Amino acid sequence: MATATASKALEVYTKGTEAWFPDETEGWLMGKLTTKTIDGDKVKLVFHIDSLRKDVTFESTLTKLEANKAADLPPLQNPPALDGIDDLAMLSYLHEPAVLHNIRLRYAQENIYTYSGIVLIAMNPFQRLALYGTDIMREYSGKRRDELEPHLFAVAEEAYRSMIQEGKNQSIIVSGESGAGKTQSARYIMRYFATVDNLTKNTRNTETTSSSGNISEIEQAVLATNPIMESFGNSKTTRNDNSSRFGKYMEIFFSKPSGPSNSVRITGAAIRTYLLERSRLIFQPPTERNYHIFYQLCAGAPAAEKKELGLTSWESFFYLNQGGTGTVPGVDDAAEFIDTTKGLSDIGVALATQWSIFKICAALLHIGNIKITARRDEADIADDDEALVLACTLLGIDKREFKKWIVKKQIITRSEKIVTALNQYAATVGRDSVAKFIYSMLFDWLVKVINQNLAREGMSTTQKFIGVLDIYGFEHFKKNSFEQFCINYANEKLQQEFNAHVFKLEQEEYVAEKINWSFIDFNDNQPCIDLIEGKLGILDLLDEESRLPSGADGTLITKLYQRFGVPTQKFFEKPRFGQSAFTIKHYANDVTYDIEGFIEKNKDTVSDEQMAVLNASEFEFLKEVIKIEPEPVKAEVTPVGIQIESQVGFSANIDALDMQPRPGRGGAVAKKPTLGTIFKASLVKLMETIRQTEVHYIRCIKPNSAKVAFEFEPQMVLQQLRACGVLETIRISCAGYPSRSTYADFADRYYLLVPSKEWKPDARVLTQSIVGKVISDEDKYQMGLTKVFFRAGQLAFLEKLRTERQRECVILIQKNIRRAVYQKRYNRMRDASIRIQTAARTYQAQKLYRHKRETRAAIKIQRNVRMWLSRKRYEKIRNAVVRIQSHIRMLKAQALAKEIRERNAATRIQKIWRGYVVRKWYKQTSRRMVLIQTCVRRRKAAKAYKLLKAEARSVGKLKETNFKLESKVVELSQALKDSKEESAKLGEKVTSLEAQVAQWKEKFSKVDSASKAATADASHGSAELKKELHDLQAVKDSLTKENEKSLAMLKKRDDAVARLEAELAAAREEAAKLKEEVQKAPKVVQQTVEDTATVNALKKEVSNLREQLSRALAGKYRSDRVADAAIAESRTSISSDYHPYQNGIITSPSSGYLNGYMGERPIPSMSTQIEMDMAAHAAKNKPRRHSYVEGAPASPVDRAVSHRKSRANIAIDTRAPIPIHDEGQVLETERSVRVLEDKALEDEIIDALVTNLRIPLPSTQTVATRKEIFFPAHLIGTTMNQLINHDLSGRMQSLMSNVMKAIQNLTMKFEDDYVSAFWLSNCYELLCVVKSTQEKEAREAGRRRIQGGRRGSDTSETERALEKVRTDLDYLLIEIYHGWIKELKKRLANMIVPAVIENQSLPGYICKQSGGLWGKWGKSSASSQFTIEQLLNFLSKLSKTMRCYYMEDSMTRQILTELLRVIGVSAFNHLLMRKNFCTWKRGVQIQYNVSRLEEWCTSHGIAEATLHLQQLLQAAKLLTLNKTSPQDIETIFDVCFLLNPTQIKKLLSLYYAADFDSPLSPELLKIVASRAVLNEKSDVLLLDLEQAPDFAKPNPHTVDQIERFVPAWMNLPHISAVVAAS
Ligand SMILES: Nc1ncnc2c1ncn2[C@@H]1O[C@H](COP(=O)(O)OP(=O)(O)OP(=O)(O)O)[C@@H](O)[C@H]1O
Ligand SMILES: [Mg+2]
Repeated sequence: MATATASKALEVYTKGTEAWFPDETEGWLMGKLTTKTIDGDKVKLVFHIDSLRKDVTFESTLTKLEANKAADLPPLQNPPALDGIDDLAMLSYLHEPAVLHNIRLRYAQENIYTYSGIVLIAMNPFQRLALYGTDIMREYSGKRRDELEPHLFAVAEEAYRSMIQEGKNQSIIVSGESGAGKTQSARYIMRYFATVDNLTKNTRNTETTSSSGNISEIEQAVLATNPIMESFGNSKTTRNDNSSRFGKYMEIFFSKPSGPSNSVRITGAAIRTYLLERSRLIFQPPTERNYHIFYQLCAGAPAAEKKELGLTSWESFFYLNQGGTGTVPGVDDAAEFIDTTKGLSDIGVALATQWSIFKICAALLHIGNIKITARRDEADIADDDEALVLACTLLGIDKREFKKWIVKKQIITRSEKIVTALNQYAATVGRDSVAKFIYSMLFDWLVKVINQNLAREGMSTTQKFIGVLDIYGFEHFKKNSFEQFCINYANEKLQQEFNAHVFKLEQEEYVAEKINWSFIDFNDNQPCIDLIEGKLGILDLLDEESRLPSGADGTLITKLYQRFGVPTQKFFEKPRFGQSAFTIKHYANDVTYDIEGFIEKNKDTVSDEQMAVLNASEFEFLKEVIKIEPEPVKAEVTPVGIQIESQVGFSANIDALDMQPRPGRGGAVAKKPTLGTIFKASLVKLMETIRQTEVHYIRCIKPNSAKVAFEFEPQMVLQQLRACGVLETIRISCAGYPSRSTYADFADRYYLLVPSKEWKPDARVLTQSIVGKVISDEDKYQMGLTKVFFRAGQLAFLEKLRTERQRECVILIQKNIRRAVYQKRYNRMRDASIRIQTAARTYQAQKLYRHKRETRAAIKIQRNVRMWLSRKRYEKIRNAVVRIQSHIRMLKAQALAKEIRERNAATRIQKIWRGYVVRKWYKQTSRRMVLIQTCVRRRKAAKAYKLLKAEARSVGKLKETNFKLESKVVELSQALKDSKEESAKLGEKVTSLEAQVAQWKEKFSKVDSASKAATADASHGSAELKKELHDLQAVKDSLTKENEKSLAMLKKRDDAVARLEAELAAAREEAAKLKEEVQKAPKVVQQTVEDTATVNALKKEVSNLREQLSRALAGKYRSDRVADAAIAESRTSISSDYHPYQNGIITSPSSGYLNGYMGERPIPSMSTQIEMDMAAHAAKNKPRRHSYVEGAPASPVDRAVSHRKSRANIAIDTRAPIPIHDEGQVLETERSVRVLEDKALEDEIIDALVTNLRIPLPSTQTVATRKEIFFPAHLIGTTMNQLINHDLSGRMQSLMSNVMKAIQNLTMKFEDDYVSAFWLSNCYELLCVVKSTQEKEAREAGRRRIQGGRRGSDTSETERALEKVRTDLDYLLIEIYHGWIKELKKRLANMIVPAVIENQSLPGYICKQSGGLWGKWGKSSASSQFTIEQLLNFLSKLSKTMRCYYMEDSMTRQILTELLRVIGVSAFNHLLMRKNFCTWKRGVQIQYNVSRLEEWCTSHGIAEATLHLQQLLQAAKLLTLNKTSPQDIETIFDVCFLLNPTQIKKLLSLYYAADFDSPLSPELLKIVASRAVLNEKSDVLLLDLEQAPDFAKPNPHTVDQIERFVPAWMNLPHISAVVAAS
């Protein structure tokens, strides 16, 4: 078939196909195919362009299409899935409109970076974006380039890593047109290099350093070069307010990778500059400025200096005011000036030198102001020209000479020197060239100084470097001159390098995959380069012409025409009109150069005479500047860059060098190299360097000329895309197999193109069957080893088939579903009608039934009514008959009743009368019988009375009575005798009491003398004891008083005894009286009755007396007791001064002095008490007096020890009133002091309790008790307490600090979480113990201070030591906490992303690891190792460990909360950076994972930690929310209220629509973007990972009792001894 290719190509063009059409303003416009007609050979395609609302028609013939391989068919639009893809190389249809469309779309979404294969395309946003912070750097650090969104940092990271890992030097070439953002990008890259090592270190190390704050001095210096280079080499132009007017290649040198993580530092840097635009110094087009430094000087120099330099405002200088602009909006020149000086200082330029530099700058400005007038065709300068004077003074040159050689010139011929006058124009040119020369020398001097300062640390050639080339891109203006020629030449060379690089990479992949291929030629630009730099090329001709004295632009152009204006030369063109220009066909565009000024610019010199004037300057600095020697070649220390520099030299310094005889080289005037030559040489060297490095490309693009944020001028961008070679690379890759995919990915996406029976598990086989079936042309694909390769467009074709296939399937499914739906609906309707019929019939039947029932009921009612009526009538008749009958019967019965009643009444009357008669008779008979009986009995009684009267008159009865009375008197006298005995006993008692009183008195006098002796002794004592004496005096006083009181008491007692004696005597008398009376008694028996009464009264009196006596005794006892209590009280008030603990607890054994008198009552002897008090007092004040008080010989204890020990004694003393008199106990104390002072104890604590402690592992079976966990803290605490008790606070402090050091060493090893958790817990417990001790100590100290501040200083020493220990412990605790957290975070770091973001636990929502994007060909990432389960297990284990170690609740919370915060923040940040990942399914998965985490938090009682997961959760929700209408956007903003607009915007722009999910429309993205702009202040993209809340140390609780538990399995002899002693 002759037209097979054409028809095949046309097949793709079906109705609705979208294709691109060129447009003058928009670049390309999209049209939809509406009709397609192929009529024989004729082809007609009609497209409708929506935006223009018009149709365009494409007409051609099959033969024509066949001839050019269907190349002129309208380029096709890519499938929607590829919209906004981040790598242009993945586009299936790779052509200009597709590239433009994609970049435009991405730019609208504010994605300014896009890859195009190896190139990073960077669109200038003209707006500050939150894309360059440290957190973003951290995200990119260590990541693969394809893992995250395209970014400068990804490229920088790639270079950085391959430098470290492969040990190869790297270059990053940043190019683009003016204002595209090259310098800015280079700056960010440099900042990345300066920071990245710290970032990686930070995640590695445990140091708490802020990530951005600590870049080293050298890194600072490297960064400081930017402001310097920019103020001297940048200026405001129409295209860019900060346009670099020179090219720069900066090599940053790194140290050798060291350490486990290959850490490298910046060790130095070297700068090479290219082509400083000299003409800017003397001329600026309108609205442009001169170099920034001049304006900075005018605005920022201090007034005094300004005056000295003769500086005024910028308007007054001709060199500054030609552009008419002196300020740049948004730039403060004065502030910039400060930055510049700071930068100069940073790189080590002394202040004096800085002022010399500024002096030269000022002089240049004055040179510009020198007025050259014309006098008869000859130039002239007034002698007193102010500017001339100022300039010459500042430069220290001879004014007259300088003036002379500006207005005159000298021509040297073989024989003589001729001086001729110059015209005004020539003189002005001469003046300006001097200025230009000085400035360019100054610039080169600066570069040299910078290089000298950056070449530190003995840089060697073996050091690796990364070079950043910031060089002007291809330029094409209306009028192009020598500069553009050079620039384009440089770009031509770079492009060649680039092409070769791309070509090589492409080739490498094909070779690696072993596919058959033959490369189609790509546009090699070698001929064009040859045209410029080859032998007898343009540069050669230019040089040749420049060297001729009579060289002129005119002759040069003729030569060029002659040499290159031949048909064989394809890259050179002679313009049709005019003789002053030539055109070169560059790779990007044809550029026509204007020959005018070529020669002049190429030569660019000052005359020898002017040079001599400058060299004769008195200003040493100027001489130094214009005389920079090329640096000696220091091969061993100079890095490649510098070496090259020294050989080639800077453009200008070779000028300078060669302009004067070189003394060392025989003084011969060398041939002056021209600018062209120099540039060519430096370029060649640059190429050499670049070729030795691995190159990375960044192409900056300026999206609009107005510098407006996010405006897109399609034509301008297209122009730049062409110029930067992106389209060229695309063309290269299109020539091969641009699309590729791994077999697995391919099969996974396109398996549906073949029937299911062909689905084989082997991806390659399946791929083979798919492509074999679908693609008929074998040339369109190639099967490699791991990948399948396609020609351009094939993937789009496959994608189209896939979409169609899917559509078919969808239709099939829809059809079936619809059928099912309708069937269901029909069935439902049928059921319904049947139901209605049933209902109607039911109704009718019911109606009939009711009627029948009613009829029957009526009949029944009638029947009953009738029955009722007849029955009623019958009953009426019957009732009447019965009534009549009853009446008659009643009458009959009444008559009968009357008769019966009358008979009954008669019978009753008869009965009553008969009873009355019988009763009357009975009464009469009984009365008569009683009368007879009475008479008989009276007669018998009278007889017995008479007999009894005679008997009563006999004497015997009286005697019996008397006998009874006598026995009673005997009884009474016995009682009297008893009472006598008793009174004798009482008398005895009184005497013993007296004896006791005497004894007491004696005792008291003894005490008195003792106290007197004590007083005397005290008075002998030194002055310092005066107070003590005073105290004792007071004691004595009180004792004397006491004595007096007790004497008074004794007297009172004596009185009482006397009184009692008197009473006793009275009683005796009475008793005698009674005796007498008794004796009298037998005689007066008759008085017995009265005596008995007297005896009774006496008895009563005796008992009364007895009672009185006993009461008197009791009263005495009571009063004694009162007195005793008074004594006891006074004693306690005295003794409480010595015995704080003693109040009222008096348990001394009874001394028995008063016992005889008072019975068994235990009363402490006052003297004993006083003795004790004295002993205690003496012991406290003067330990020496022990012997005196104790009455024992002084113990052989060392004084010092006894002094130290005394505290212990007191402690014991004060606790119990038992005084220590026991020597054994002293020795015991002594021994424990020795144990405590032994170094072995400390070693044992450190070794056994800390370093080699076998930490009890947290287990589920046996739960260790608090005691078993906290024993180290408590044992250390016990030891500490013992040390304090023994007054060894210094020892305690050193022991504690060593112990803490040991703990720190142990915990900082991070061997296991157990160790950290255990010690964190224990340290906290120890802190509590210390705090409790401290409180106790403070209490005691307070008490002691009240007692008398004797020991004040000692106490505060202990307190100070404790305070120190406590603060140290605080620090240790915080350190362990932070250290551990850091360690935990490190461990979490590689778990978070796989577990929270990548882990897919919900089976129904699995998406491919790549995020479902089929475009990520061949880059299937490794499956994640960590699942959410593992993460939760990790956390649970941690939580359990802490629980088992009884970690303080608030600490546990803080640790877990912080970890959850890190999880939330890291996961969120990662999500924001992750490319091709954010799909709906991912949202669901992440939500699930987060909910698992939340569940975990609530179940572990840290619900508040879930707050930290909210941002992540909302981000995940955002992915699952609807995103189709503006309302949806509102909803999103409402739901995701925690996310700021920038984050939402980013997430939405990252959102990737998987199959059948509609991608976000650009309109919606615009809405979001506008909202983001409104809220610009909250413009942070990533959450701050470092912003950890401070550790809030929980308040130590009081430890009531220090456990003295020593685990059985531990062998701790020393500690046990201490524990036992305590
Ligand atoms: N990544 C960026 N983010 C924000 N603004 C940028 C960015 N890149 C460039 N710009 C803006 O664009 C301006 C020009 O950038 P830059 O000076 O880097 O351009 P250039 O390519 O070096 O131009 P020239 O060739 O004239 O030196 C900057 O001053 C800045 O305002
Ligand atoms: Mg720049």
